[in-house]
Amino acid sequence: MRSFITYLKCSVCGKIFDHRQVQRFCQDCNEPLIAIYDLDGMRKNVNKDSFKSRVSSMWRYFEFLPVIDERNIVSLGEGWTPLLKLEKFGDMLGIKNLFLKDESFNPTLSFKARGLSCAVSKAVELGIDKLALPTAGNAGSALSAYCAKAGIKCFVSAPKDTPSLILKECEFYGAEIELVDGLISDAVKIVQSRNDFFDISTMKEPYRLQGKKTLGFEIIEQLGWVVPDWIIYPTGGGTGLIGIWLAVSELIEVGLIDGKFPKMVAVQSSGCAPVVRAYKEGKEQVEYWQGAKTIAYGLRVPKPFAGRLILEVIRKSGGLAIEVEDEDIVKMMRKIAEVEGIMLCPEGSATVVALERLVFGGVIKGDDVVVIFNTASGVKYL
Ligand SMILES: Cc1ncc(COP(=O)(O)O)c(C=O)c1O
Ligand SMILES: [Zn+2]
Repeated sequence: MRSFITYLKCSVCGKIFDHRQVQRFCQDCNEPLIAIYDLDGMRKNVNKDSFKSRVSSMWRYFEFLPVIDERNIVSLGEGWTPLLKLEKFGDMLGIKNLFLKDESFNPTLSFKARGLSCAVSKAVELGIDKLALPTAGNAGSALSAYCAKAGIKCFVSAPKDTPSLILKECEFYGAEIELVDGLISDAVKIVQSRNDFFDISTMKEPYRLQGKKTLGFEIIEQLGWVVPDWIIYPTGGGTGLIGIWLAVSELIEVGLIDGKFPKMVAVQSSGCAPVVRAYKEGKEQVEYWQGAKTIAYGLRVPKPFAGRLILEVIRKSGGLAIEVEDEDIVKMMRKIAEVEGIMLCPEGSATVVALERLVFGGVIKGDDVVVIFNTASGVKYL
């Protein structure tokens, strides 16, 4: 197997960057870099059967990932998580094909493992030996674990009200932790002050996005190479939303699926809904949300760095952005636990609340194929 990565490109000005050197984001535009692959070349080398006998992790899509030498992969078995059909809850809503991508099965119990397995692997390939990030929690525990595995120093900064279990995890994996009396945007400043560490903040380096792309590949492969009608995603930094969109685009280019795209729905909490506000106001960029407050810690991102790309994906897909209340998130966590036997995290529960609203509002129809997400284990939040 070989990676078909060719270069990195600024998502705004199109400037090209070399993936064989350490890169962050486009300093001219202050916007993320996207990895570009030789999809024509890949078309001649992969087909649907290529993946059948592959490893049961996200690294089964090696050609679509940026690591050149397989020996640099830092893996704890991330990805290839179950796509569960929610028969009972689907019946209650009148949706025949409702699927939950259950990311609680990942190492460190969250989907953050995907982006960080990929980014830490690429960091190893590029010879980086100190990594840091600001975190709402789950990215911190994932980075801590992958750094431990790779033998790399790790520094994380998090709000002091982050669930204690998650902070304990970071400590256990040997990370240095600095808590802030504030939000993730305050933790950003702490990480920036530690410039002896490479800042692996989401979208401020190119490769966490590449790992998150595998969410899209898996959903489509698990549905039998079918693209769902709706993807309902809990959006904080937006890496998963953008990643899934890239995955669909690449599969179409390579000819593994036809030209259909899913409608992408970004779900936020009404206590921190900067993407929803920008979407409703027809803005091209997301503005800072004052006084962010929500129990869905992963959605407590007052100004996502990739705001412009998030809005572009939602609009291009014909999707939408929607906010839900914390009170409903909590009620839905209980409901799904009782009906389906799954303990959702608050962010995952938010996608179910949004789904219910869109079904009751007549936006999502009974025959539509819908995918919602449990981005982490609810047990972390008890
Ligand atoms: C459990 C959970 N869900 C969702 C998100 C938001 O993810 P993204 O940055 O891909 O929008 C986070 C981010 O911290 C999270 O921890
Ligand atoms: Zn640029």
